[in-house]
Amino acid sequence: SNRIMLGPLVAAIDQGTSSTRFLVFNAKTAELLSHHQVEIKQSFPKEGWVEEDPKEILQSVYECMDRTCEKLTQLNIDISNIKAIGVTNQRETTLVWDKETGEPLYNAIVWLDLRTQSTVERLINKTPGRNKNHLKTGLPISTYFSAVKLRWLMDNVEKVHEAVLSHRAMFGTVDSWLIWCLTGGKKGGVHCTDVTNASRTMLFNIHTMDWDPELCKYFDIPMEILPKVRSSSEIYGLMKSGPLTGVPISGCLGDQSAALVGQMCFKDGQAKNTYGTGCFLLKNVGTKGSVAIAGAVVRWLKDNLGIIQTSTELEELAADVGTSYGCYFVPAFSGLYAPYWEPSARGIICGLTQFTNRSHLAFAALEAVCFQTREILDAMNQDSGIHLSQLQVDGGMTSNRLLMQLQADILCIPVVKPSMPETTALGAAMAAGAAEGVSVWSLNPEDLTEVTSEKFEPQINPEGKGI
Ligand code: G3P
Repeated sequence: SNRIMLGPLVAAIDQGTSSTRFLVFNAKTAELLSHHQVEIKQSFPKEGWVEEDPKEILQSVYECMDRTCEKLTQLNIDISNIKAIGVTNQRETTLVWDKETGEPLYNAIVWLDLRTQSTVERLINKTPGRNKNHLKTGLPISTYFSAVKLRWLMDNVEKVHEAVLSHRAMFGTVDSWLIWCLTGGKKGGVHCTDVTNASRTMLFNIHTMDWDPELCKYFDIPMEILPKVRSSSEIYGLMKSGPLTGVPISGCLGDQSAALVGQMCFKDGQAKNTYGTGCFLLKNVGTKGSVAIAGAVVRWLKDNLGIIQTSTELEELAADVGTSYGCYFVPAFSGLYAPYWEPSARGIICGLTQFTNRSHLAFAALEAVCFQTREILDAMNQDSGIHLSQLQVDGGMTSNRLLMQLQADILCIPVVKPSMPETTALGAAMAAGAAEGVSVWSLNPEDLTEVTSEKFEPQINPEGKGI
């Protein structure tokens, strides 16, 4: 057969909140060669609860790998050229499993889940303000992060409680669960995580770069159930089954950190915003901020109000009027994240008149995403003293050109979108390919700065007047 000679390839598992993907890149050109995507079910057993099935998550990874390998073979690309696999994942989502049976002991509790709200309120009252924990973790106490979800599992799920007592429990975020399973599971799987994922648990000390015994004590979590914290680019173990058996897993990053790498934000002060289920703005100084609801507001307008049939209709609808006509939408469906950290906040729509129609509402929804991003950027600019000169963007909603223009107008800086949108996966694949012992990633970030992109320039000045 006519095998195409491409040189080394690197792959990424991108396990997100709503879907799993497997993507394969050329390590010399960063070109995306093939990929496959599988949707993930979410369950909402009670108001504010969000769960996913750990086994379905794992199966979706195997399915994506198998299908992508088949597609590559059809393209006459030899899959033995895949030299490394990186893992990138929805962060904070919390799992506990039994290391002897390999079975999950409960569903994964998803990052958006609010069941720990009362625990969080109690802890905040106990240690108000910027307390010692905050200095160690860089995080406010919130339902968002893993420690409180893990505490809930230990307090409320008998199987988890028993497994902890009999030293059979393993805790992990999605990266740990996947790496453990893919490297052999109960037959010698590697129990690890990386610093970016660990930093979102509230148990990790960002100064010592390891689990913090005092924080574990504060949340009453036994340290023996925690995965080992490793760097984001090193060989953790080898694939134990499937078409890529023997390939090293050598990259691991939370999805938002991976996108920062994939967007080549290696210089001080560079920042990116990913418009996914939520909005996740990360800046290269260590500060970061999340907006819980971005793409999810579009889904709400579609599924709950029925004012659009498909997500793409939103842009047309909003463009029809080009203004919200004084209508404001605060989609605080699951409280407000950065910079407010207010779990009891709820959504509102205000400024309605008899004239307001669904187009104005659509426009207000887009503005809501932009205003929330602006608030986080202002907070970051203030904290770091460095003013961002442009914002790099990615994620599903960036295909909405009206949203991108609005974002540039509302930030008063250009918004730049790369033509290759898979920046999260690219970041994980780069980390995997650059690991010691793999070293197939031959591209310098400088070589990639020429990558084509689209730039949205602000059309209004800071006083809100048209330029
Ligand atoms: O913090 C949660 C974030 O990592 C989830 O990202 O892309 O799965 O919505 P995404």
